[in-house]
Amino acid sequence: MANVGKKLMGWVDARFPATETYEYHMSKYYAPKNFNFWYFFGVLSMIVLVNQLVTGIWLTMSYNPSGEGAFDSIEYIMRDVEYGWLLRYMHSTGASAFFVVVYLHMFRGLLYGSYKKPRELVWLFGMAIYLVLMAEGFFGYLLPWGNMSYWGAQVILNLAGAVPVVGDELVTWVRGDYLISGITLNRFFALHVVALPLVLVALVFMHLVALHHVGSNNPDGVDIKKVKGDDGVPLDGIPFHPYYTVHDLVGIVVFLFIFSLVLFFFPDGGGYFLERPNFEPANQLKTPEHIAPVWYYTPFYAILRAVPSKLGGVIAMGAAIAILFVLPWLDRSPVRSMRYKGIHSKIWLTLFAISFVVLGVLGAIPAGPVETLLARIFTVIYFLFFLLMPFYTSMETVKPVPDRVTGGKH
Ligand code: HEM
Repeated sequence: MANVGKKLMGWVDARFPATETYEYHMSKYYAPKNFNFWYFFGVLSMIVLVNQLVTGIWLTMSYNPSGEGAFDSIEYIMRDVEYGWLLRYMHSTGASAFFVVVYLHMFRGLLYGSYKKPRELVWLFGMAIYLVLMAEGFFGYLLPWGNMSYWGAQVILNLAGAVPVVGDELVTWVRGDYLISGITLNRFFALHVVALPLVLVALVFMHLVALHHVGSNNPDGVDIKKVKGDDGVPLDGIPFHPYYTVHDLVGIVVFLFIFSLVLFFFPDGGGYFLERPNFEPANQLKTPEHIAPVWYYTPFYAILRAVPSKLGGVIAMGAAIAILFVLPWLDRSPVRSMRYKGIHSKIWLTLFAISFVVLGVLGAIPAGPVETLLARIFTVIYFLFFLLMPFYTSMETVKPVPDRVTGGKH
């Protein structure tokens, strides 16, 4: 039997690089042995991506993408379709879970300098994924055709109106109508269900191809390829399979446990994962009392509102995202990991993390004078983290980096 299996694999391998690919990415992919907690979030992002794709396909089977039928079809899914409520909550809570794991995944990159040479493209593909993910979330949010779907889309689409000269025509063109209507819903549906998932999957593929080409970074930021054994294998590397496949399984189980708790006991996240006005159908005559985007956009929404002019706000919000793309070229430190960087990098990263969270809170609540002042202060801190980076990273004293990784448990 084993012989038949071997022969069959030989036949396949002569025509398609199955074993070669498996070895390159799994059994002979040598990952640093000191991965820690922060290294779970890449694989968790993949788990959530698969969850979104699978539940999304099943939701599409019962969803009606029309202005007349969308809201009712969601009610039908929630009440009449077998396990429809579970599919819908897995998808809506899954969207929030996606951003939780992706934000932690990105923060790990900041912590250990994973964006630095030679991983700039891994980071850039990651940033492209992040952009597409934000667009995917935005388009998906209109689909239930609830009142917050409608007004949220209204606020964000109107931002295009800030573009000088052609603004108004641009908004009409994007909407496909003089108001947000079934036509807008149809195009959002096409983008959410077909176009962007394809782009997302392609980008994740390239993200991983780029990563495996240069090799994973690690909490010490040490290049493990520098110290190799006689067999050419890095001394601090262990085969991804079986070591990290089994190791990641622990993280996946813990994640699924927490995800299930939220899913079954707290699916609307207290109004933050599914906002209250969205349990009412879209109504163009009734503006929700307080329009706020879902939590994962609120830091950028706070930056948008912090700037007095509409165009200025749109530019600031765009810049807040765009600046992340050039991070690999702003960091001039001779070391990668925060473990060996100097005190300035540590303080600025802490300030940045605080500003991101505070802006997130401010973007979720109505903006009074105090909130606006705070949003302005933290917007400045957010940008200073990046703009001052070339200076504090090149001037501060760093600790010596060891030749080998430290504290590996394997
Ligand atoms: C669908 C979303 C994403 C998926 C499925 C994904 C998947 C992964 C996986 C499986 C890894 C290897 C395991 C790990 O290091 O945790 C990884 C590494 C990495 N990802 Fe992502 N990723 C996603 C989004 C992002 C985003 C948004 C960024 C940043 C903008 C990013 C930046 C990185 C970096 C820099 C690494 C290398 C880390 C290192 O070697 O230390 N990823 N990603």
